[in-house]
Amino acid sequence: MNENLRIAVVGATGVVGGEVLSALFDRDFPAERLSVLASERSAGEELEYGEETLEVEKATPESFRGMGLVILATPPEVSRGLAPAAQAAGAWVVDASLAFRSDGNVPLVLPGFNSEVLGASFKGRIVSVPSAVSTALVTVLEPLRQAFGVAQVQVTALMGVSSAGQQGLRELEAQTAALLSGREPEAHPLFPHRVGFNLVPQVGLFMANSPWTEEEAGWTLEAARLFAPKGEVPVVAGTAVQVPTFFGHGLSLHVRLRKPAPVEQARAALKGSPAIKVLDSPGEKVYPMTSLVTADPTVHVGRLRSFPQAPEWLSLFAAVDNTGRGAALNLVEAGLRLAERSA
Ligand SMILES: NC(=O)c1ccc[n+]([C@@H]2O[C@H](COP(=O)([O-])OP(=O)(O)OC[C@H]3O[C@@H](n4cnc5c(N)ncnc54)[C@H](OP(=O)(O)O)[C@@H]3O)[C@@H](O)[C@H]2O)c1
Repeated sequence: MNENLRIAVVGATGVVGGEVLSALFDRDFPAERLSVLASERSAGEELEYGEETLEVEKATPESFRGMGLVILATPPEVSRGLAPAAQAAGAWVVDASLAFRSDGNVPLVLPGFNSEVLGASFKGRIVSVPSAVSTALVTVLEPLRQAFGVAQVQVTALMGVSSAGQQGLRELEAQTAALLSGREPEAHPLFPHRVGFNLVPQVGLFMANSPWTEEEAGWTLEAARLFAPKGEVPVVAGTAVQVPTFFGHGLSLHVRLRKPAPVEQARAALKGSPAIKVLDSPGEKVYPMTSLVTADPTVHVGRLRSFPQAPEWLSLFAAVDNTGRGAALNLVEAGLRLAERSA
């Protein structure tokens, strides 16, 4: 690692920002070369970094002077404002939000899948990473694509409320406490409906004049951007459901392969990926669950099934740590690799 590298983490008080700090600490990144930034609301707060304490500063376009890397774990409208300022200050910028995921001028990078992009030349100094669900989808599909080809994917993503950040966590906590005390929860400012003891088939906003949410449309778009250079773009469609759990996303997947795949062969292909842990002994009640995947850098996959009547279809279940593997690890791995570049 570059011994002079200075890193700014913007959104450090958020769910993803907190995981970014953990990942940097795990890599022994020194506190004295780390700046933690957030909105004016949190300026002056203190965050623990191992035994050290870091004071949160308000992020402004002037915050990035001397920074080699700026990690943005902020809402999209904030990233749109701050990324160009960080780039203009000469820093490499990695953004967690959807702000640049559809921007053809900004590389979309999933470390371990298309890391080579980080060493290639591209316009500007901003890089985007995929959503947590897209991270899991692409990780699971890639070994199947290599072994059998992938034509189509149907996905139901069961998404814990940490997908909506700190406020999502607080809202589910308050609703659950109220309902368990026999009280009707107060208004739910963040989610479109009560999520406590409920399943809500809307995560985030709907696209303008479209029946698809931004989350769902993002899977199609990000899979297309990531797979296109490999010469095969599977059709990805599905439903995002907000579920009343805190951390982790579960994905029910139906994959149409280009040729029939016996389950044993599909399992072997998945086991060959270092980014995947196969948990698939249903007789022993072993399969992926969101409670098992917290803090695990791999995507868990199991419940593999196929039908004799449709041998090219494969059904499976996957789980991903949305704030770790699905966000912070992508940001840190991509960012540190970029920071190794000379220009
Ligand atoms: N949560 C996930 O599972 C997940 C997965 C993949 C990608 N992402 C993306 O990652 C980003 C962060 O998500 P999150 O879940 O960590 O949200 P969060 O918990 O709500 O955190 C948001 C962070 O952004 C900061 N912020 C808000 N407005 C700001 C401003 N004007 N200037 C500077 N900082 C500002 C907040 O600071 P204050 O504390 O001061 O408000 C907070 O630190 C989002 O774009 C999200 O879509 C999230």
